[in-house]
Amino acid sequence: MRQAELESTIPKRRAFRGPLLHFLADPGSTACAEASPKVTGYFADGLLLVEDGLVSACGSAGDLLPRLDRSWALTEYQDKLILPGFVDCHTHYPQTDMIAAHGEQLLQWLQHYAFPTEGRFVDAAHAVELAEVFLDELLRNGTTTALVLATVHSQSVDAFFGAAAARGLRMLAGKLLMDRNAPDYLTDTAASGDADSRALIEHWHGVDRLGYAITPRFALTSSDAQLAQAGKLAAEYPDVYLHTHLAENRDESMRIAELFPASRGSLDVYERFGLLRERAIFAHCLYLQADDRRRLAECDAAIAFCPTSNLFLGSGLFDLAAADAAGVRVGLATDIGAGTSFGLLQTLGDAYKVLQLQGQSLSSLRAFYLATLGGARALSLDRYIGNFLPGKEADLVVLDPTATPLLARRMQGVHDLAERLFVLMTLGDDRCVAATYALGRLVHQR
Ligand code: GUN
Ligand code: ZN
Repeated sequence: MRQAELESTIPKRRAFRGPLLHFLADPGSTACAEASPKVTGYFADGLLLVEDGLVSACGSAGDLLPRLDRSWALTEYQDKLILPGFVDCHTHYPQTDMIAAHGEQLLQWLQHYAFPTEGRFVDAAHAVELAEVFLDELLRNGTTTALVLATVHSQSVDAFFGAAAARGLRMLAGKLLMDRNAPDYLTDTAASGDADSRALIEHWHGVDRLGYAITPRFALTSSDAQLAQAGKLAAEYPDVYLHTHLAENRDESMRIAELFPASRGSLDVYERFGLLRERAIFAHCLYLQADDRRRLAECDAAIAFCPTSNLFLGSGLFDLAAADAAGVRVGLATDIGAGTSFGLLQTLGDAYKVLQLQGQSLSSLRAFYLATLGGARALSLDRYIGNFLPGKEADLVVLDPTATPLLARRMQGVHDLAERLFVLMTLGDDRCVAATYALGRLVHQR
């Protein structure tokens, strides 16, 4: 369906009928998590009622159909699976054009691919074009909310938020702060980065469904002065997000130890500058110090687990069991363009494999929890999105479990919901995303 054929207004009353799944709690880390009604809401013949873009009821069709009268538009998805829209907790929209760049690990990859690609965003028209391409990809993959890095240029944030607002999406983003160890054409200063971030917060934070994230790229590309300014800004705006990379790569960690000899590691650097707090989201977290997970949990910060990216850059393996044991909130993330898929389905498939390599077994129910309510919790957005409780914003994805010949054949042999989900996250991709809705409005249809 072309953009022009998608819906431009939020329908007053719309009902969705079909198999329906959402989560009320974390199914936990056990490999054989079962669908218990306290944790998992599953209705083989479900009905989701949406009024003015918000969920008004979710349950079995048998219970809820009598509520429908002629004022309701009914959309049927009998052979599909209706889920809350996916949440991507860390991704770079400007890196869309350099996805699948061969041959390097993080620090060289940044120099050779990421920085030159981001340099093009000095051109506002280019930023507008890429924002649209990126959002098309998210919606084609069933992702309705993301925490997004822009570039150092303010206009890259304006372009992204403008495009997200026009589509009615709930999105978080921020301008990169980077005043050292990057090409001249990509650096700001402590003062200009602070002024630009303030102006963007005042302009965009809390407008429509948008939220701002103060975004020092990582400790290597910000001076002490810039990190201190970012910490001051974060204290002034406690409901604004903080977003950065943490402990992704061994060489990076060694360079940070050289640059910040007084610190006990990368998280300690951030903490000393006031960048460890609730609404702080740290991508990767592979090479943490002994106490770091405890500190993350105590400060109510969250981790973005980026399995595809970590494999592609050869960065390492994220230890989900250790994060769980410390009680840190974790969401799932694609990390485009180091990640190689916009799809949370493939990201879940890779998460499973990354954990297998460490003797951990991700259940499919936990996996889909992480892609929906878990992500919403990691981003402190669960009062708006993440499941179908009444009052939540009706962002949803409709999956086709038999979208390809192989899936159709494999699905004939599945016995229960958990197995169907596991096959979907192992074999599925954007071909499985039949439709995506934001606030009950169709924003993608295959
Ligand atoms: N660390 C600092 N910048 C980046 C980036 O653009 N991508 C990834 N994966 N890690 C980073
Ligand atoms: Zn990243």
